[in-house]
Amino acid sequence: MNKLSDCFILSNGVEIPCIGFGTWQTPNGEIAFNAIKAALEIGYIHIDTAAIYGNEKSIGDAVKDNDIVSRKELFITSKLWNSNQGYENTLTAFDKTIKDLQLKYLDLYLIHWPIPKDFRENWQKNISSTWKAFEKLYKEGKIRAIGVSNFLPHHLSALMKNAEIEPMVNQIELHPGQTQNETVLFCQKHNILIEAWSPLGTGKILSNPILKKISLKYNKNVAQLCIRWSLQNSFIPLPKSVTPSRISENANVFDFEISRDDMDTINTMSYCGGSGLNPDNIDF
Ligand SMILES: NC(=O)c1ccc[n+]([C@@H]2O[C@H](COP(=O)([O-])OP(=O)(O)OC[C@H]3O[C@@H](n4cnc5c(N)ncnc54)[C@H](OP(=O)(O)O)[C@@H]3O)[C@@H](O)[C@H]2O)c1
Repeated sequence: MNKLSDCFILSNGVEIPCIGFGTWQTPNGEIAFNAIKAALEIGYIHIDTAAIYGNEKSIGDAVKDNDIVSRKELFITSKLWNSNQGYENTLTAFDKTIKDLQLKYLDLYLIHWPIPKDFRENWQKNISSTWKAFEKLYKEGKIRAIGVSNFLPHHLSALMKNAEIEPMVNQIELHPGQTQNETVLFCQKHNILIEAWSPLGTGKILSNPILKKISLKYNKNVAQLCIRWSLQNSFIPLPKSVTPSRISENANVFDFEISRDDMDTINTMSYCGGSGLNPDNIDF
């Protein structure tokens, strides 16, 4: 990967740009609008949002207002929120997302979490009916690729048992100190592309002394090191920022290569910050 527009290829042949622009905790309104405009100006063409982030309207406004990239060049992801799982609810929630984003189609739609608090009983059945709706929307051409988020191997196995179309993406928490090796191996075996959420540990790992020391060797900062680490592991990082200078530096990761030794050091670091969420026990 040499630039923001370089792509990984999903199992259905769809190209997905190698760095996505994260938008969780980016408030709807001027902040989201300006962040997206800044990202597009810098050259990001892949945007990650979700219904629960509450910013789809402003993201849609910024995409519509831009004259830098066409809709066709952009890759836009959203996610189905937990309370909307189930066949009919999914179809209704998708319509709202598309309307808020002011788009005719989505590039990628993900089931946000496998086991919402209110669906702990019968979660397997619930995932199957939700996925049926995803398959319908995909077959109708309203979504170019379908996938999941926060799915561990046993969640993926349950979904795939009754699926006609296998998920193309799994978006999970991945950053130094949080490597989810078992899930990564499972996805690689099944040709499911991995996206790394919180690639900077929501900012909490940026002062880590080991990462700091390694980053200095490459004349980069820790954020750039973490983003490059994701890419070299073939994960799509989704760095979030509302600060133009950071949005720009997070894209400046294509002119260095982390050595095998340093990759090994980072790959085996112990937990140093992050969400700590376990998808089997979330309370939302
Ligand atoms: N599927 C899921 O369940 C899930 C869960 C969490 C996140 N995500 C996705 O993954 C994206 C990224 O995760 P995240 O939002 O947790 O955060 P992140 O990208 O790991 O970190 C973002 C934080 O780091 C700061 N930051 C960004 N670049 C920086 C830099 N170069 N130097 C110093 N600080 C920097 C940001 O501050 P400023 O914004 O103030 O600049 C913000 O506080 C989300 O936005 C979302 O799209 C998905």
